[in-house]
Amino acid sequence: MRWIRAAGRGLLVLAVVMSGYMASGAHADERDRRGPLTLATAGDLTGYLGPLLEGWNRTHPAEKVTLVELPDSADETHAQMTTDLRGGDRGRFDVLNIDVNWTSEFAAAGWIRPLPRDRFPLKSFLPPVVDTATYDGRLYAVPYVTNAGLLLYRKDVLAKEGVPPPRTWAELEHDAKTIAPRYGLDGYAGQFLPYEGLTVNAAEAVYSAGGTILGDEGTRVTVDSDAAREGIGFLARGLREGWIPKAALTYKEEESKQAFQDGRLLFLRNWPYAYALASAKGSKVAGRIGAVPLPGPDGPGKSVLGGSNLAVNTHARHPDSAARLIAYLTSEGVQRQVLTRGSLPPVRAALYEDPTLVRRFPYLPTLRTAVLTAAPRPKSPHYDQVSLVVQAVVQDALTGHETPAAAVRRLARELAAVSGR
Ligand code: GLC
Repeated sequence: MRWIRAAGRGLLVLAVVMSGYMASGAHADERDRRGPLTLATAGDLTGYLGPLLEGWNRTHPAEKVTLVELPDSADETHAQMTTDLRGGDRGRFDVLNIDVNWTSEFAAAGWIRPLPRDRFPLKSFLPPVVDTATYDGRLYAVPYVTNAGLLLYRKDVLAKEGVPPPRTWAELEHDAKTIAPRYGLDGYAGQFLPYEGLTVNAAEAVYSAGGTILGDEGTRVTVDSDAAREGIGFLARGLREGWIPKAALTYKEEESKQAFQDGRLLFLRNWPYAYALASAKGSKVAGRIGAVPLPGPDGPGKSVLGGSNLAVNTHARHPDSAARLIAYLTSEGVQRQVLTRGSLPPVRAALYEDPTLVRRFPYLPTLRTAVLTAAPRPKSPHYDQVSLVVQAVVQDALTGHETPAAAVRRLARELAAVSGR
């Protein structure tokens, strides 16, 4: 009898071990691919990501993620990530929150790995964002946050003047020149320090006038056009005439948002996070601002498509956990928090039509249209060099060292050199 009981106990132990193994739903090698991770990101301007990741860490104690926050400026983050990735071996970062326009460069260099499409809810995303995550027909990252530039304006001031927000550059220029000074305000600003933000602002001006910078997936230089001269000319004139303050030449997103939030600007081009923060407690202009599409020469202009994608380092320690973390961060519940806690535009299309969210974030319908009509930056494995050239040349035009026409000619020459054409 005793041996029967002993054998029974043995079987019970075996059954418990087996069921534990099967409940984990993983084969041994797959479990090896699970474990702790690091997630590198550019500066988290709204401070939401750390607390959000605590939710994952609580429920995934064996796959804890450590957040590595890099600088605010896209270019500095790019430099730190690429230095690390070039170092080979494993590097410090397992999952990388990369700017949408870096996907091609990182994929072509072999720094990030292709991902299986069926593991992620790509069909639930706004269509243009998925394209930013693909290179050479393969998925190399998963869209996480999208972005489009908006024109923020002082609703109180325009209401007093009885004028609607500007739809054209001429209206913007007129209001910035005539209305702003009457209220002790500067007219208009964007992000004009030489870094990725200046490339974005310059591209938006060129695209809004109907021009382009590069064509055919970045292989043809198309910038030498009247539209580009008009776009760069618009910004250069603002600085020359003073309705764009000189200080704007030192602005990145944060500095320009601060100027608006301190009540120093009538109009600001920025990403929607600035609308959310300038509407929050502590902002001098809370409750007194509105957001409309960027203006263009004869009507609404065009925004550049911003945002970031989540990619997995080719040498990631635990690739299965990396993919699981990405699926979590792009789930509907977390994407909702990206908006409600991070004030960042989610990639899930349904959230833009959620009545509760639209009530709380009145700019969502405008933003949805801006994202759907936004123009992507050129998909080039040399995008970093393309952007550096744009920044340097456009800065010379904005500081008055070169006329817009001469700057556009030089831009065409230097872009041809960079892309080898
Ligand atoms: C925002 C955008 C990003 C862009 C950057 C420029 O972070 O989401 O795409 O490159 O601003 O400063």
